[in-house]
Amino acid sequence: MRLIRLADRPDLDVAALAATAAAWPAFMMESPVADRHWGPMTRLFADFNLALIAGDDTILAIGNAVPFVWDPAAPLPASGWDWVFTQALATAGERPTLASALAITIPPVYRGAGHARRLLTAFKAAARAHGCQALVAPVRPTRKAEFPDQAMADYLNRRDDQGRRFDPWVGLHESMGATILSIADQSMVIPGTRDQWRQWTGLEPPTAGRWTVPGALQPVVINGDTITYTEPNVWMRHAL
Ligand SMILES: CC(C)(COP(=O)(O)OP(=O)(O)OC[C@H]1O[C@@H](n2cnc3c(N)ncnc32)[C@H](O)[C@@H]1OP(=O)(O)O)[C@@H](O)C(=O)NCCC(=O)NCCS
Repeated sequence: MRLIRLADRPDLDVAALAATAAAWPAFMMESPVADRHWGPMTRLFADFNLALIAGDDTILAIGNAVPFVWDPAAPLPASGWDWVFTQALATAGERPTLASALAITIPPVYRGAGHARRLLTAFKAAARAHGCQALVAPVRPTRKAEFPDQAMADYLNRRDDQGRRFDPWVGLHESMGATILSIADQSMVIPGTRDQWRQWTGLEPPTAGRWTVPGALQPVVINGDTITYTEPNVWMRHAL
């Protein structure tokens, strides 16, 4: 197994995209902010866009992160993921003060093997090497989709029957020393037409109101022909 920079292996672009698309709900691939700039971003921040690959080049895990400039003591905005992606592009070339994880994607067959920890450790090393003061992340609590109507603050209070944090992904970050900073309740905004949502979900959207979509952390809002998903995340911070 090897850790590579995606920028050094453009021959793996198609496989990386396929692995990502297979691991996420289709609508999560439709962020207008990411759509425009994802490819250039992975090249611009080459040390932060990584993959673990097997000896035969099979992709085991993909990790995307960005360095950016922001007062490390200031609160992080509620527009979490969209904001940090845009902020990183806006401050590219300057000396970064923080780094942020954007996504870790592991194909289902390669989960449970410690790859998420390896990539978070690699993000921290890249952040240190670039002079950042901390690694933050607008974390997507992976099991929140099972409780779409519960407020994020209440979901975060859930514990499992052993008293551990219920959400395994938030729990994994904490087990590596991260702390929760705040809720980013408009972290990623994904608008689409009725036709697009039909295509993304394979379902018929209701005519109005709030719509529970598999994989969405809270209901999607229908307003005429505009259907909008607003993804809530949780800002977490890892010391370096
Ligand atoms: C989220 C994801 C990256 C996690 O990867 P994974 O391979 O399933 O994670 P692992 O099983 O290796 O790690 C789980 C670790 O968390 C620990 N853990 C699980 N539940 C926990 C809890 N409630 N509290 C503390 N730790 C917990 C496990 O014990 C395990 O620790 P270990 O590495 O010491 O064995 C993966 O499921 C994925 O790609 N999902 C789809 C995309 C996604 O949602 N990404 C996250 C948002 S960016």
